[in-house]
Amino acid sequence: MTRKLFIKSYGCQMNAYDSTRMADVMAPHGYALTDTPEGADMVVLNTCHIREKAAEKVYSELGRLRTLKSDKAAQGERMVIAVAGCVAQAEGEEIMRRVDFVDIVLGPQVYHRLPEMVAKLGRGGKVLDTEFPAIDKFDSLPKPSAAQGPTAFLTVQEGCDKFCTFCVVPYTRGAEYSRPVAQIEVEARQLVDLGVREITLLGQNVNAYHGAGSDGTATGLGGLIRKLAQIDGLKRLRYMTSHPRDMDDDLIAAHADEEKLMPFLHLPVQSGSDAVLDAMNRGHTADDYRRLVARIQTARPDIALSSDFIVGYPGESDSDFEATLALVRDIGFAQSFSFKYSPRPGTPAASARKQVAEEVMAERLERLQAILNEQTSGFARSLLGKSFDVLFERPGRYAGQLIGRSPHLQPVHVFAPEHAIGDIVPVRVTEAMPRSVTAELVMARPNGGQLAMVAS
Ligand code: 5AD
Ligand code: SF4
Repeated sequence: MTRKLFIKSYGCQMNAYDSTRMADVMAPHGYALTDTPEGADMVVLNTCHIREKAAEKVYSELGRLRTLKSDKAAQGERMVIAVAGCVAQAEGEEIMRRVDFVDIVLGPQVYHRLPEMVAKLGRGGKVLDTEFPAIDKFDSLPKPSAAQGPTAFLTVQEGCDKFCTFCVVPYTRGAEYSRPVAQIEVEARQLVDLGVREITLLGQNVNAYHGAGSDGTATGLGGLIRKLAQIDGLKRLRYMTSHPRDMDDDLIAAHADEEKLMPFLHLPVQSGSDAVLDAMNRGHTADDYRRLVARIQTARPDIALSSDFIVGYPGESDSDFEATLALVRDIGFAQSFSFKYSPRPGTPAASARKQVAEEVMAERLERLQAILNEQTSGFARSLLGKSFDVLFERPGRYAGQLIGRSPHLQPVHVFAPEHAIGDIVPVRVTEAMPRSVTAELVMARPNGGQLAMVAS
């Protein structure tokens, strides 16, 4: 009998990857994914703990699930509720205490054991598993069972040893770990066999990657990218999220000479103030970041940059904040994510004395976002009339329209036949929206191959 499995993913792409892998793990046990929690036999909330609201959302979602679970029980059936991910890792016992109808709480390192946990429930009771097991979960995961479309995430690295003072990741995801090159290559080939054309390599600190190569020596992310780029049928590679301190020469060089590596880089800077960067334990200054960006732009002049920012880090003064605005104006970001500082229990910054007042944070965030939003829409406008290749991913909102991504990760809307999903096709931009562009198909180039970004 097929059972219905609903997985809701919060937070980062690594959680999105873990959610697809949980589905892969449950598939051989008769569980098929469904789009809604109503009537599901099992619901997994794959949670994120990076900022406060994320955890609150989980508790309110659990509140909604209570009714669905009792509806199901009224029909004599069981809905298993599992809480996975980083909130589970950080607050597992509290979840069990606060929410009595949760059956399973599991951390990000043990989801390969999900079927065993469900089997244990059959014998009554609840399961809490937030271990960091010695055996690598990646060794126990099955083949990817299905592709969600022509693009896929592939986690190559997990955890973080950087210990930025605001961040919970080193505690929830543990120490830095890199998967071996051969294991990643096998998974990439399996994804390509399922029709995937673009892979985004994921890691909390992906460019700290140093997995064992075939001769046992460590391979950096640049080396991994070059290796994966040899896979026929794989057309595009991306990676995220990177730390400025780990952008080594080889990775920068890969941006210059590896055609399949797309010209987009998410490189969080968090702040433009040296004092704040130092207090955050980021290990670099604002000018180090400017110089690094200049080197990357020399290697790949058309690269689009993206960043994360935190406003209101404890002790951030008006002039610290002005320094962040100055850095944003200097660099120019195609995309960005900005947040108010949120104290995370157990992190050093949470107990700092000089917390910034909520209204100050709100005002700073608004000013920062006004500039960042203008840069994002300016980037979209700069593409008007330009031609580039789009990988079509899925149908668009209007009949006959497809949505794809440009090399710069820009969403692109194009009228094109549905069978073009999965194809990489040259288009010309006709209209710029704030966060996406509309484009039309252009005649294929006589020499074929992927187009670089060209002015038409
Ligand atoms: N408060 C606010 N933002 C945070 N981030 C991480 N921890 C916190 C926190 N405690 C942001 C950082 C990071 C992104 C994933 O989330 O900008 O790069
Ligand atoms: Fe968190 Fe810093 Fe590690 Fe990123 S580099 S995951 S912000 S500790």
